[in-house]
Amino acid sequence: MSMFKLKALLDRIYESELPDLNDLEQALSLKNQVELDKLFSFADSVRKEFCGDGIILRGIIEFSNFCDKECFYCGLNKNNRKLSRYRMNQEELIKSVKYLASCNVKTVVLQSGEDQALDALWLADIISQIKSRFDLVVTLSVGERSMQDYRVWKESGADRYLLKIETSDKDLYSSMHPQMDFNQRLDCLDALGKLGYQVGTGNIIGLPGQSLKNIAKDIIFFKQGDFDMIGIGPFIPHGDSQFSGEKKGDATLTLKTIALTRILTRNAHIPATTALGSLDKDYRLDGLKCGANVLMPNFTPPPFRKLYQIYPGKRCVDESVGVCNFCMDGVAKSLGRFIDYSKAHSFKQKKEISHV
Ligand code: 5AD
Ligand code: FES
Repeated sequence: MSMFKLKALLDRIYESELPDLNDLEQALSLKNQVELDKLFSFADSVRKEFCGDGIILRGIIEFSNFCDKECFYCGLNKNNRKLSRYRMNQEELIKSVKYLASCNVKTVVLQSGEDQALDALWLADIISQIKSRFDLVVTLSVGERSMQDYRVWKESGADRYLLKIETSDKDLYSSMHPQMDFNQRLDCLDALGKLGYQVGTGNIIGLPGQSLKNIAKDIIFFKQGDFDMIGIGPFIPHGDSQFSGEKKGDATLTLKTIALTRILTRNAHIPATTALGSLDKDYRLDGLKCGANVLMPNFTPPPFRKLYQIYPGKRCVDESVGVCNFCMDGVAKSLGRFIDYSKAHSFKQKKEISHV
């Protein structure tokens, strides 16, 4: 494609309220390095204009790997009997939160498998304790639950919720999520927004059977949903999952998806995901250079961390806890940016909080 044509394509995508699917597919198929550089630097300039130069930190604690779902891509699927399951107790959890807060990280992401046995009131109590003892923002990532549970957690002080759609294509979704209902996932996202959570979603790049058109539609889904946060990571096959032996997701395609999502959504918070850091090399820096503005250091204590194997080769599994390993400040400086140690709430206009 001529540089002139490419510039026109990117401008069209940037300026349209809802871009043409073909335009997005064309941008997702760019191969030539000069073209890719153009796309990535365009996205980087949108990131700079709408999000600034701060790299935001969200500390994650994976407090339980119990799961009753059977997602074909995921190592925590309930049919994986080889995995020993854990649930951190309250004391262990609070200790990790304390350490995270001492590292000057202002958001704790509490993540687990989708585990209906997880007691909503137990988690509500943890949230209240965190909010009363620490000056922290609480993000939850524990899957599909009832409106009632979401409400209890919100009332206990939870601020944000991550629930990835994984793929916005209903048929593709059904093909790898037995016993799950795509519409129910949409309903959950909707309920979370109505309850006043800052809401994050996202997808996986390179799922078996996924086309470029599927990814283009995901990007449109992100734009239409006006989400506060969007996590995009490559598929990494897990040996004890249905998709064992499948091809892993492509790093460049993941970066292209991040770039186009940035260009379209302008100011959503987009992490350079751990999965992006867990391929043949650590592509998180590349992610930060093509639209991402968030890093998620892992604060799960090491004995548990090894067991939270969503996919193999997860970055930092053998390293000690916290922010120091990734040399956050050094990374930021090398990019001419800085680490933002604030709470860094959503850049989106505060939505009306309806009381449901
Ligand atoms: N490869 C990459 N990402 C995965 N996830 C789950 N399994 C895999 C995998 N094999 C992602 C999902 C989930 C998040 C916690 O991890 O998007 O929402
Ligand atoms: Fe449940 Fe992955 S299958 S968290």
